[in-house]
Amino acid sequence: MGSKQGSGGKVTQQVKKAIGIGLLGLGTVGTGVAEVLATKADGLAEQAGLPLVLRKVLVRDVNKRRSIKLAPSLVTDRPDEILAHPEVDIVIELVGGEYPATEYIKQALASGKHIVTANKEVMAKHGYELFSLAKRHNTDIRYEASVGSGIPLISAFQQDLAANSISAIHAIVNGTTNYILTQMAQEGLDFASTLKQAQKLGYAEADPANDIEGIDAAYKLVILSNLAFRTKFTPQDVYREGISNIAARDFSYAREFGYAIKLLAIAKRDRDTVEMRVHPVFIPQDFQLAKVDGVYNAVEVETDLAGKLVFYGEGAGALRASSAVLADVLAIARNIYRGVNNVPELRLNETVSVKPMSDLKTRYYLRLNAPDRPGVLAQISKVLGDNSISISSVIQKEINLPAQTAIIVIMTYPAREKAMQKALSQLKQLPEVNEVSNFIRVEE
Ligand SMILES: NC(=O)c1ccc[n+]([C@@H]2O[C@H](COP(=O)([O-])OP(=O)(O)OC[C@H]3O[C@@H](n4cnc5c(N)ncnc54)[C@H](OP(=O)(O)O)[C@@H]3O)[C@@H](O)[C@H]2O)c1
Repeated sequence: MGSKQGSGGKVTQQVKKAIGIGLLGLGTVGTGVAEVLATKADGLAEQAGLPLVLRKVLVRDVNKRRSIKLAPSLVTDRPDEILAHPEVDIVIELVGGEYPATEYIKQALASGKHIVTANKEVMAKHGYELFSLAKRHNTDIRYEASVGSGIPLISAFQQDLAANSISAIHAIVNGTTNYILTQMAQEGLDFASTLKQAQKLGYAEADPANDIEGIDAAYKLVILSNLAFRTKFTPQDVYREGISNIAARDFSYAREFGYAIKLLAIAKRDRDTVEMRVHPVFIPQDFQLAKVDGVYNAVEVETDLAGKLVFYGEGAGALRASSAVLADVLAIARNIYRGVNNVPELRLNETVSVKPMSDLKTRYYLRLNAPDRPGVLAQISKVLGDNSISISSVIQKEINLPAQTAIIVIMTYPAREKAMQKALSQLKQLPEVNEVSNFIRVEE
């Protein structure tokens, strides 16, 4: 496509003079990408074989003041000016959200354009459909920035780990929740005030639900799992719990038992099933992931050949995401230049299915509020025992003399989730229990 083979096998002539880029979105990441395209133009052209030329940029509001100066003729609020632009080869989708981003990507693929996107929601919900569409139209679709921003993950899974069987992924892929949990652990603050502080610092959105409910992490887990296990899972396949129920005292009890609390995205393969879950966990303090603090991300991958790998770095920010977006652009641009078609492969492993959450077997931490009187512990132990759950340690904490209540903290031996859920509902009915205040799974 980009070069011609002359007589004698010599590459003689460039047909294309440039690779045309259409940018959808000029927000945090879009601005970063547009800036790097300008400031690193020579270096990028050298790597791509041809200059990368920004043809058009889509925004919602063309009159908005921008931190980047672009020729007004470059900026449009009409998607067709990019999606049907004859000189746009690569569409970079940085609008975010499910719609209209999904439709823009479909239209671009259908008109034969290659796609680079940072959109985890679109890739988690519609990835398989988009790969099929790309294949049908002989176009490429890349999404390195969608998980871990600038941390190389997608290409590592697609290429560098291709010969491995992946057995497990443990990931901290949401900087907002990791920042909140780190602050709560280090400062002893409660959840609500830590969230407010994170919002003030710009680490959490005004509507933080996507982050604190684990939705964002679930999207990223789906993307990584589909690469690792060659599946077409969707966010609905992920069991999910957020972090809003965690209290400052859970961190001190966790520490007493030798654990840290993290929101982990976990995928584990057991023969032909994969468990996929996002929820807060107790992890031993000496685990590498326990030491990943603040807005940092880390993804630990267990493989048969390469062993255990940990990918670590900053999971957000204009330049971090631009690094991944432009790596994808360069990969596609090089293929265009060399006249190579790189259509995504769709070799699914049809035998793999999602493991029901009720089949999970793990240890549990329980925090209960109970009347401070004899016989309470015996009743609690009986409920757990009746459900085949053995207690590994129990401590009575913080007796409230006026109210005559106590906090009881229990660590169990490994038990089935199904049994634990049954025990929890029985404990909630027990007159000897005022409240089941928290319940956190342990990951070892
Ligand atoms: N921020 C990060 O650090 C980061 C890191 C990795 C991946 N990502 C992903 O990158 C993508 C972009 O994130 P961002 O933080 O750059 O978002 P953002 O700051 O909210 O920017 C979104 C841009 O898209 C434009 N836009 C939104 N809806 C539109 C519509 N319906 N039609 C036309 N234009 C529309 C907006 O236009 P106006 O400017 O006119 O409002 C804005 O320029 C998301 O998928 C995000 O998950 C972000």
